[in-house]
Amino acid sequence: MARLILLPIFFWSALALGTVDDSGRVVFDYQMNCQGCHTPDGAGAGSVPAMKGHVGVFLQSQEGREYLVRVPGSATSALSDERLAAVLNWIMYEFAGDSLQSPFIPYTASEVAPLREKPLNEVDAYRERLLRAIAGADARE
Ligand code: HEC
Repeated sequence: MARLILLPIFFWSALALGTVDDSGRVVFDYQMNCQGCHTPDGAGAGSVPAMKGHVGVFLQSQEGREYLVRVPGSATSALSDERLAAVLNWIMYEFAGDSLQSPFIPYTASEVAPLREKPLNEVDAYRERLLRAIAGADARE
């Protein structure tokens, strides 16, 4: 009888702890590695583009999805693959808002690992071309 009562409590607390731990760590990782340029709310400043209300647009193309990992701030960060994936997922949930048009498939460590080995150069031109292609695809729909 005691087992029947304790088991659910055990699972519940393990789940609850897991969530708290993870979100605390991911926010900390963003604060330590990204926020200095991207600002606490993702609004950006100066040459740092706003992720708030916009970053989800990139997920409309596979190249765009990869861009978010290959951009130097992501790719060359000190974070492990797993923690970078978690920060990017957090950025999507936290900042993308309405720019996220279809259900978001979270990044994983194994997806980001090979991508960050190919960090982008000439990011500005690449980003512009990417956004034009996405806007063009939208217009054709
Ligand atoms: C030294 C400043 C700096 C830091 C630190 C930084 N970024 Fe960036 N980030 C930029 C700039 C500038 C851009 C615009 C593209 C470029 O020129 O690299 C950018 C672009 C991005 C983009 C694409 C957004 C867009 O609209 O093009 C993502 C995603 C991103 N950064 C994620 C991160 C993550 C995740 C971290 C932390 C692990 C991080 N960045 C740390 C400066 C920074």
